[in-house]
Amino acid sequence: MNPLIAPSILAGDFGNLQREIEMLNKSDADYIHVDVMDGVFVPNISFGMPVMEAIHRHASKPLDVHLMIVQPERYLAAFQSLGAANITVHLEACTHLHRIIQEIKALGCTAGVALNPHTSIQLLKDIIRDVDLVCIMSVNPGFGGQKFIEHTFLRVKELKSLIIETGSTAKIEIDGGVSLQNAAQLLACGADILVAGNFVFNSKNPTQTINKLKYIV
Ligand code: DX5
Ligand code: ZN
Repeated sequence: MNPLIAPSILAGDFGNLQREIEMLNKSDADYIHVDVMDGVFVPNISFGMPVMEAIHRHASKPLDVHLMIVQPERYLAAFQSLGAANITVHLEACTHLHRIIQEIKALGCTAGVALNPHTSIQLLKDIIRDVDLVCIMSVNPGFGGQKFIEHTFLRVKELKSLIIETGSTAKIEIDGGVSLQNAAQLLACGADILVAGNFVFNSKNPTQTINKLKYIV
């Protein structure tokens, strides 16, 4: 199976946001990955509602919103109304994760949970059947352009086993430092969705790079 590709707009040129989104609309991308950072959960601030609104205005691909914020429950409805198709929250940021997952689904979005590189996969055991997507962070969240953490491969395998054992239908998304150097191995370990920021936008031909990631196997 070919992976689903979710280019991260964080690595795009914000001075030419419309042009970047239009490039993604015409590409083989399956989603547009939208990284929202609050400067509290992660040591960086990316953007908030006005930029999300502008992305939504131009995008024809579904928006995969990755909330790297504390208390994400405060903003679920806002992101849904700004066009989120999927909303992913961090396990580390949610005291009442089960409730938040139900709230995301009640809004009509698919629900994802993201795990920092140090967070045990086994913490998902009692929630895995409720989520549509698990986002395995392959860098520490907060910045694009970081080096892929090799230990991720083992974590993807462990998650894939948990999904099979529990009969979950959750898709596995990998986020951070994804490139043609690790994509094939990630898929072999069980990944379904590849997020890629700098590898796509810093390449000579982003459309072609998306295509290469999509048809790597
Ligand atoms: C990291 C973000 C990622 C990032 C990916 O905190 O969640 O989505 O933008 O960018 P690259 O592919 O450049 O690591
Ligand atoms: Zn992300």
